[in-house]
Amino acid sequence: MRKPLIAANWKMYKTPAESTAFIDTFLPLVASQQKTEIVLCPPMICLAASIVATKGTPVHIGAQTMDYHDNGAYTGETSPLMLKALGVTHVLIGHSERRQYFNETDETVNLKLKAALAHNLVPIVCVGEHLAEREAGHTNDVLNRQTAAALAGIDPAIAAPIVFAYEPVWAIGTGRTATPQIAEEAHKVIRAQIAKSLNPALAASTRILYGGSVKPDNAASLCCLEDIDGALVGGASLDPNSFAQIIINAAL
Ligand code: PGA
Repeated sequence: MRKPLIAANWKMYKTPAESTAFIDTFLPLVASQQKTEIVLCPPMICLAASIVATKGTPVHIGAQTMDYHDNGAYTGETSPLMLKALGVTHVLIGHSERRQYFNETDETVNLKLKAALAHNLVPIVCVGEHLAEREAGHTNDVLNRQTAAALAGIDPAIAAPIVFAYEPVWAIGTGRTATPQIAEEAHKVIRAQIAKSLNPALAASTRILYGGSVKPDNAASLCCLEDIDGALVGGASLDPNSFAQIIINAAL
């Protein structure tokens, strides 16, 4: 019932020419992977080239962040209107690096989520605890708070496109992956909070991705679990062979 989604988060890597070269190599490798929704999230400056390179293919292009205003005096920002006009279909919201380095808060995540829905962009909302929070036994509180805050005031009637990504901060870029059991438990907590904030039917249909050091050799054990509907991949998505192998292994 929930279509698997695997997204690449390239962070601040690759030029437009490098994005095109990646896509040219990558597309034939995943041509037979039609059961998985595949999304590439390149840097803003690579979005246009990536959209051209994936035209006519099932591979979607997403942004790594956006502003929540339609337009205005917000130097350096990119609006949902602009992303939509370019052909972007998905957007990451509240990635932990945005929360940590760029003042993203639960409140701005909520505003961006509403803006994405208003402009028909598929939002991928990232939540996850820091190591100290996990060690202090606060993981569930953090996940409940971030999920509830993201969904505050959202009309369940328009919430179907929302995707969540559980990204434990201690697993991002560290090579330290959550065990399938830790991930599955966290996904259940997030799903239960979606049921509370929206309704049980939406909780059952909402896709929740796992992110944090996903690699070709751990993709299958993570993605096969009941509550894990795909992956958000950073480092291992920069190489077309490695990212394609993750998609292939997760679908096994
Ligand atoms: P990683 O990053 O796969 O390099 O751990 C994941 C992410 O930040 O989305």
